Amino acid sequence: MSACVRGAPARTGVAIAVRLREDRDDLSIFELVNEACFRHGASHLDPFPALDGFRAWLSGLGDTRFETVAEIDGQVVGFCGLYILPQRRNHCAWFFLGVRESFQGNGVGKRLLQTTIAAADILFGLGRLELTVFADNEKALSLYRKFGFEIEGRHRNFVHRGDERVDAYSMARIRAEAGPPNSVEELQERIRELACWLRSRLAE
Ligand SMILES: CC(C)(COP(=O)(O)OP(=O)(O)OC[C@H]1O[C@@H](n2cnc3c(N)ncnc32)[C@H](O)[C@@H]1OP(=O)(O)O)[C@@H](O)C(=O)NCCC(=O)NCCS
Repeated sequence: MSACVRGAPARTGVAIAVRLREDRDDLSIFELVNEACFRHGASHLDPFPALDGFRAWLSGLGDTRFETVAEIDGQVVGFCGLYILPQRRNHCAWFFLGVRESFQGNGVGKRLLQTTIAAADILFGLGRLELTVFADNEKALSLYRKFGFEIEGRHRNFVHRGDERVDAYSMARIRAEAGPPNSVEELQERIRELACWLRSRLAE
């Protein structure tokens, strides 16, 4: 059986806390992206040999970002990073998402994506979220479809995985009416709105 197909049994009543990423989280995120499950399902990179190299890669992903971690019992079990593109694509962002294999199936991915999309919609007013997902990653495809992402195209033989080459889909979620805040006051209002949204939804 390939990595990640089986998944972990769901734990009912698990309390998931989502907060902004801090520097102290980097070791946990490094361990997550080096897990066989994440690499099988989501990565086109070789494993990061050391934390410093991972930090350098992460810090190079762009200047405008919204990164969150999910915790269960004080342990970082998931990460989602949203990276806004520059210049004439500044209405667009891409993101990557991962949950520690032993904590999958508990709603962590959904909670992280919900928070990220709220920030993209309410705070940044983005018009397009985009991502690439391996074509056999059924969990991620199902999750993204639930949040309104649609397949835009198929990349054939996209990535090496052992001896095989795996296809990938480009997916995107479009909001035509979106726009960034036009003033400091509007930004402050959006921050209040996001805080209110997070308080109401994350308490569910
Ligand atoms: C994809 C991933 C982020 C989902 O995180 P998760 O915490 O396990 O997912 P959740 O428990 O929040 O479930 C969210 C949705 O994912 C889908 N999903 C979860 N487990 C699934 C499974 N075993 N089979 C099919 N779909 C599944 C469902 O649509 C589910 O919604 P539902 O609970 O309403 O049915 C996680 O599996 C992961 O990190 N995988 C490795 C890295 C990866 O693939 N990242 C995405 C790269 S594009």
